[in-house]
Amino acid sequence: MSFVLRAATIDDVDGLLSMWQEAAGNAGRPADTRQAVTTLLGRDPEALILAEQDGELIGSIIAGWDGWRCHLYRLAVRPDWRRKGVASALLRAAEDRFKCLGASRADAMVLDDNDLGQNLWRASGYSRQDDWRRWMKTI
Ligand SMILES: CC(C)(COP(=O)(O)OP(=O)(O)OC[C@H]1O[C@@H](n2cnc3c(N)ncnc32)[C@H](O)[C@@H]1OP(=O)(O)O)[C@@H](O)C(=O)NCCC(=O)NCCS
Repeated sequence: MSFVLRAATIDDVDGLLSMWQEAAGNAGRPADTRQAVTTLLGRDPEALILAEQDGELIGSIIAGWDGWRCHLYRLAVRPDWRRKGVASALLRAAEDRFKCLGASRADAMVLDDNDLGQNLWRASGYSRQDDWRRWMKTI
């Protein structure tokens, strides 16, 4: 499959928000906003990796590095592009970035009922940590 990976820019934000509406898991999380994505790109211009084919945005991942740990967010592939290795390629690019930054571990939050996501993470060598729970507070 001929798609390319590249870092997102400000020009991608509207297309990305619309792709996430269609393709990403959107339950149980804060809504995405133009401001939030713009802030991410300003803080870490390499963090948001896109897959594109002939100018069409087909997938995304956020490879977040906070200077301490690596976290993966917003892994999503358009429905008509699934099972073609797009997510695997995005994940490899994110892990390559983490390795270049000197990190040794990556993680992702996955909803318990997201079988689609869990299949991908399992197939990509990730395993579930059952002895941890996320604690959170809205601020
Ligand atoms: C999960 C998602 C990102 C996978 O994207 P994708 O590009 O289709 O994944 P890949 O083609 O790289 O698949 C890699 C492997 O994951 C597993 N996998 C992916 N989708 C699967 C499915 N529907 N059923 C079973 N296994 C699946 C397979 O082992 C697959 O390898 P194979 O095709 O050689 O069997 C995509 O389905 C998606 O966007 N889902 C909605 C958003 C979402 O849930 N994101 C994850 C949030 S935690």
